[in-house]
Amino acid sequence: MQRVAVIGLGPIGTRHANIYDEMEGAQLAAVCDIDKERADALAKVLKVPAFYDVPSLLETADLTMASVATGGREYGSDHHGPTMQALAAGLHVLCEKPISNEIAPAEEMVALAREKGLCFGVDLNHRFTPAARLAKRWVDEGRVGHQLFMNMAMWIHNLVSPPSGFRSRRCILTPSISCATSVATSLRFNVLVSRRRDAASTRQRSSTCGLPPAVSAT
Ligand SMILES: NC(=O)c1ccc[n+]([C@@H]2O[C@H](COP(=O)([O-])OP(=O)(O)OC[C@H]3O[C@@H](n4cnc5c(N)ncnc54)[C@H](O)[C@@H]3O)[C@@H](O)[C@H]2O)c1
Repeated sequence: MQRVAVIGLGPIGTRHANIYDEMEGAQLAAVCDIDKERADALAKVLKVPAFYDVPSLLETADLTMASVATGGREYGSDHHGPTMQALAAGLHVLCEKPISNEIAPAEEMVALAREKGLCFGVDLNHRFTPAARLAKRWVDEGRVGHQLFMNMAMWIHNLVSPPSGFRSRRCILTPSISCATSVATSLRFNVLVSRRRDAASTRQRSSTCGLPPAVSAT
């Protein structure tokens, strides 16, 4: 059973917390946001302790895993600090996408996860969406020819005026269900991998447990 804290409680961290709260194999143990009102409000609903900074969270709560959904500038600037702190404390981490806005901090996170033998997943949940699977199938079948680049648009719950370049009616049906279901699928995958990793590492004390040292693609 993974005991999970969610760090960063915007719309996406809140979704993570709600999913962990309902998921088999995971127990939501704490929530954390530097915005006290956000942390207190969600903690009250989900009946878990609230924390307002990562060091206090890691010092106090009994955890095996953290979701980092902090975002920041261009949605990627604030993941590095909490992720490094959580990994240093020995927790598996699922980090929201994008991993970072820059290569160096991204590499640091992956390197620390490898060094510690921990799972580090980046929530590329849209790989699980029907639209992405359909696009992949078309590429595999050669239906779109040799791919040079991809121009993509995404929208959620605003199907009245889809972007003009988006022509597949089959795809238009998918985004409204994509976010909720794909985040749930992605989180389940990460919890499963973390559990396999924990089970394997109790059998084998070395890092050669049959899984790569850091898992960064979900
Ligand atoms: N997987 C998906 O489908 C999907 C969809 C949308 C967004 N995202 C990603 O999710 C992330 C969060 O998005 P959002 O819209 O919820 O962001 P948001 O800005 O609304 O929320 C981020 C929260 O993190 C908190 N925070 C920042 N630094 C912190 C720290 N050091 N410790 C504790 N809390 C801290 C902020 O106070 C804020 O409440 C982004 O990286 C975004 O790219 C993923």
